[in-house]
Amino acid sequence: MRAISVKEVSKLKGNIEIQGSKNTVLPIMAATLLSSGVSVIYNCPDIDDVAVMCQLLACLHVKTNRVGNTLTIDTREAAYEPLPLSLTGKLRSSVLLLGPILARWGKARIGMPGGCAIGLRPVDIHLEGFMKMNVDIRLHRDILDCSTFHLQGCEYHLRFPSVGATENLIMAAVGARGRTILRGAAKEPEIVELCNYLLAMGALIEGVGTDVLIIKGTDVLTSCDYCNVYDRIVAGTYLLMAAAIPSDITLTGIDDIHYMKNIIKVASQIGVSVVKMENCLHVQSFGKVDGGDFETGIYPEFPTDLQPVLVAVLAKAKKDSSVTERVFEKRFGIVRELEKLGADITVKGQRAEIKGNTELYGHTLKAADLRQGAALVVAGLFSRGYTTVTNISYIERGYEDIVRDLQCVGAEIAYV
Ligand code: UD1
Repeated sequence: MRAISVKEVSKLKGNIEIQGSKNTVLPIMAATLLSSGVSVIYNCPDIDDVAVMCQLLACLHVKTNRVGNTLTIDTREAAYEPLPLSLTGKLRSSVLLLGPILARWGKARIGMPGGCAIGLRPVDIHLEGFMKMNVDIRLHRDILDCSTFHLQGCEYHLRFPSVGATENLIMAAVGARGRTILRGAAKEPEIVELCNYLLAMGALIEGVGTDVLIIKGTDVLTSCDYCNVYDRIVAGTYLLMAAAIPSDITLTGIDDIHYMKNIIKVASQIGVSVVKMENCLHVQSFGKVDGGDFETGIYPEFPTDLQPVLVAVLAKAKKDSSVTERVFEKRFGIVRELEKLGADITVKGQRAEIKGNTELYGHTLKAADLRQGAALVVAGLFSRGYTTVTNISYIERGYEDIVRDLQCVGAEIAYV
């Protein structure tokens, strides 16, 4: 089993090129199924989740071809097939194929999605929305059997602004008959990107970027290309990391910081100075973390995906801090591992209380989900001596090469 070994570092200096966004590209890959043609996706990250999505598309006779960070998707010979649990179980986003498959073929037999073990992560909102659209759904031994005579536009209020359910229902609605109104929709940047991509394909969507989306179904969608945005969570990982280590680094490939406002705000509060320059962020710090009380939330609040990195960095703060998790009900998997480094953290329900002024000492740690794994690597950079992070396949689901990135800023880090 591969692992990452990282040594405590005294300063970080250099450039990191920020990869393309995972959470944006996965729904857009699913959306290519809505038309028959060839789509080119630029700046597509070379990560395991994208590779699994390609395998799922291959089950549907879709051809994909990667050259560098350009992914070509050819849906001209796409044909309906059931999607096996052995593949869908590897990825939460496999469920995003349900909407496009139903829009294209009116039936879907698909294994339940997998993904990181962060809370229950049910798909009831996705399914309730599909049922409103006239889909008959049965679940038997983790296989969803769905069929519809035709998808019918509907009015649906999501009980929680689930990102995935919003994406899935939008993709179904663009191929449904009549008008769909989604209320209580998620407004994450990835949804805006998906809507803009669908609009370019010929979809009719109003209210993009708001929590009420009005979608008129159409059957004339054409394939189109997409230039992927940078990954705001990967950028945020390195931005927060800078708080705990004296830093003078540049994050390149960041053209627009609109979607990072709250991440930059929190980074600034804990001691990072961030200056936007052309196509990059210049990041400096003295490596002295200012503690505080923070909360995750739905966009535009601080993203839950960066909560493990924030908790890790606050373990180095000068004073006590707290982080309250408002999106997932069980997302403090980082705490047990940080305790092995010497961190003093108490979890009370959805809130982690983190003692300041603690010395952290390198240890062997185990990644148990994507963002927690990345946070452990970051923690290794500011823990005495050496830290080894095992189970790194979780990290490779979403980070192209965290070792390469951190070497670029002078870290002593390697695969072992
Ligand atoms: C997406 C992101 C993930 C991020 C999350 C929240 C992708 C590929 N993943 O995940 O990185 O952490 O948004 O920003 O884009 N829920 C239900 N029923 C449902 C769906 C969700 O109860 O049918 C609950 C979940 O258990 C969770 C909350 O809603 O507590 C948020 O989930 P959701 O927004 O759906 O996250 P994902 O789309 O899976």
